[in-house]
Parts: sequence; structure tokens; C-alpha cells
Amino acid sequence: MNPRNNHRLILFPHPFQGHMNSMIQLGRILHAQGFSITIIHTNFNAPDPSSHPHFAFRSIPDGIDQSKASTLGIGNLLALLDVQCAVPFEECLREMVSSQGGDAAPIACLISDSLFSFTCSVAQSLKVHALVMRTGGAAYLYVATILPVLKEKGYIPVLGSRSEEAVKEFPPLLVKDIPAGLDPQKPEAIFRILDNLIAVIKDSSGVIINTFEELEHSDLESLREVLSVPFFPIGPSHKFCVTSPSSSSQAEDRNCISWLDKQLPKSVIYVSFGSLAATSEAEMLEIALGLADSEQPFLWVVRSGSVCDPEWLEKSPSHFLKALEGRGKIVKWAPQKEVLAHPAVGAFWTHSGWNSTLESISEGVPMLCMPRFADQGVNARYVSDVWRIGVHLNGGLERENIARAIKRMLAEREGEEIRERALVLKEKASVSVRQGGPSYQALDALVSHILSFK
Ligand code: UDX
Repeated sequence: MNPRNNHRLILFPHPFQGHMNSMIQLGRILHAQGFSITIIHTNFNAPDPSSHPHFAFRSIPDGIDQSKASTLGIGNLLALLDVQCAVPFEECLREMVSSQGGDAAPIACLISDSLFSFTCSVAQSLKVHALVMRTGGAAYLYVATILPVLKEKGYIPVLGSRSEEAVKEFPPLLVKDIPAGLDPQKPEAIFRILDNLIAVIKDSSGVIINTFEELEHSDLESLREVLSVPFFPIGPSHKFCVTSPSSSSQAEDRNCISWLDKQLPKSVIYVSFGSLAATSEAEMLEIALGLADSEQPFLWVVRSGSVCDPEWLEKSPSHFLKALEGRGKIVKWAPQKEVLAHPAVGAFWTHSGWNSTLESISEGVPMLCMPRFADQGVNARYVSDVWRIGVHLNGGLERENIARAIKRMLAEREGEEIRERALVLKEKASVSVRQGGPSYQALDALVSHILSFK
């Protein structure tokens, strides 16, 4: 009898898509290790239980009107969820703790997303061990720990005139890469989120982080020293389970795979800016014209809700649609991991969200980075200047810059050299999750850590 079967893990994901995917993925990994999994989730962006028959689900009210959520703005939504979920979460966990010993396996520990500030204190009050899951990378988390230094040195608030300056205390960062949130002139919102995040990590029994030792060793070492809690780098987590049903709340358009099958190897630029970033109609037009001018086939994700006017595409002028005709394919949501693994995809134009960055590294796909907010600037800087597996879209969102950058990636020698480095990192990622690899060993250490909780 596997001793873990009578150990139940309570997982509490943040409802943002990139965070939900990561926690569901972690649940699949730990279920495969023999644990019973219960997911406490918000009503907002709730996962579909039918996609995960092995998991138990408990929903909690969050007071968010799903139809109005996109008008709130990411920063406000984050703050609201943190305030409005605290009491319902505590009531739910208290009820689960008190009903232990019945048919339900005893709770081994709670694993919650680091964006919720209240989880560790609630768990401790109920005598439940609490681990925290970080969806972002180690470098960004380390930047979060040195924000007070960056403020003291005058780098914050980020002033446009200094944006290209180097941050001497944290090379190769530039001032514009510092996480200044959605409004660089009002950085206090994101600093409050990051302060809470550091506090909840310090309060926890350990951090599960979706990265791998070879990719971010030095930042992981810095974090272990500064935060004094154990870190378990088990990434790329999506590579632990070969088959992983989508946990996206959006339906994937699988027609793009058969479209990719008809394209030449490494010829396609895949374009996707994650589940949160919004784009204006003017920007969409520049992107479309730049893709057309690049003369490369493209697969472009135009997520519903990402453009101010959802009917943007249908209302576009016919000459514009003609420019796109035959050159590419536009979908509302793609099976991204499968797309990045497809031989036709030659480069990924991304907003540099962490999950997208790690998925691209896992498939050896070079990146064209266009960071927007939060950790994306740090992620993009590491892609271009540290790992050197991509470039920044410099010069702004204009059709000439876009076309030039895409040609640089797909049709020039520099692109070939970048791809060679990306393939080396792909191999390191693959070795890491194999038996005996660093992430595999970190997963073993995590399981032993959980089983050690009395
Ligand atoms: C958010 C923040 O924006 C990001 O900066 C942070 O690192 C994580 O939280 P998101 O914007 O959703 O994440 O981007 P990302 O982290 O890249 O996650 C997007 C997820 O959606 C990926 O797992 C990707 O595979 C998936 N996706 C995206 C699809 O499955 N289909 C698509 O068409 C687009």
C-alpha cells in the first residue's frame, strides 16, 4: 500500500489562467506520486472538474462579477480577490480540518499560490502545514526581494528618461525591466503585492517553483539565502506529465495544428500574449501589418477580450484582411504547448509571461520578446541577455520594426545562432525532469518534505 494514499493535499490556485494551469499541473504531478488531491477554487475562472476526475473540488465565493472582471484592471482584481477570498477560504479549510478522520484522508498540507497573502497564517491557525507555489521564475522573485534597495538607489519610480539605464546592482537588468506594474507612475500597487508575496513565502514551510536548477541556479541560491526557506525547483512542470488535459477556461482551436502541418519546418512565427494582456485596435493593426510585411507564415492568438472591441477582426477593413489572407491563421486560443512543439514553428513572439517562456525553452523555440507588465520585463531580459535564446522587439510596436525583427529571427544567421542555443537549453530542461535529473530529485525531496510533516 503506497503510504501516501492516505495523505491529502489541499491546493488553492490563484484564478488567473497562467496560475491556474500551473497549480493544476502540480496537482497532476503530486497525484501521480500517490497523494489525494482536493482543489479549493474561486467561482471566478473556476476550473472544469470533468477535466480532472481524480481531483476533489471545493468552490468558495469571491464576490467578483465575472462579466465585469475584465473592466476592473489586473491590479484591482488581484487586490479584490486577496481581500474577498480570505474569510471564505478560512471557513472552507476549517470545515475540512474538522471533518478529517472520516472518509477523507487526513490533510498532509496546504499548497497555495503565492499571490494570496492570508493562506499561511490561516493554515497555521488550523495547525496545517503550508507550502507556497510560485508560478514565476527565480530571477523575478529575487528582484522582488531587492525592491527596497532599488527604491533607495532612486531607480523607482521608474522614470521614462532613465528607462534604458543599467541597474548596476542587478546586471543585466535595465531600469525599464523593473516590475513597475501596470502604471509606472503608480508603482505602489505592485510593490504591495510583492511585499505580501515575500512575507507569505517567509511564513511558509517551503516554496515549490516552476523553474529548473540549471536555468536559474544563481538566483535560486540567492533566494535560499535571503528567504531562509527550502525551495523545490521542479520545472518545467508540464514536462512531468506527458498527457495533460487543458486546464484553460478557454476552448482551444485545434484547427491550427492541421494548418501547421501544411507549413515548412521552422517557417512559422507563433504570436501569443498570454491570458491577461490587452491590446488596442491601433496596436492590433500594426501587428497585423508587420506580420504581413514579414512575408513569413504566422499563427496569431487573438484572445477574446484581448482587444477593446471583440468584433475587431470581423469589422476590420477588407484591404487589411486581404493583406493577412493566406499568410497566416488567427485563432482565439491555441493548444500552446503542442504548437511550440510543432516542427513548423520557428519562433515565438511573446509577452514573456513565465509559463510561455518556460514552455518555449522546453521546446527549444527562440523568442521575440515584447514584455508588458509584472515579471515580463525581467523574464525578457534573461531571454535576450543571459540565456541569449531570443531578442527584444526594440523600437516600438510598428510594422517596420515587427517585420524586421521577424526576418531577423527566421531568415538570418543571427536567428540560427539563437536557435542553436535554444536547443542546448531544451536538452537541459529535458534532462532535468528525467529520473535522476535535478527537477526529478527536487520532486523527491518535496515529497519527503511533505511526508515529514507530523
Ligand atoms: C500571468 C502574467 O501575465 C505573467 O507575466 C506571469 O508570469 C504569470 O501570470 P499569463 O499572462 O497568462 O500569466 O502568461 P503565461 O504565464 O505565459 O501563461 C499563459 C498560459 O496560457 C500558458 O501556460 C500557455 O500555454 C497558455 N496559453 C496561452 C494557451 O494554452 N493558449 C493560448 O492561445 C495562449
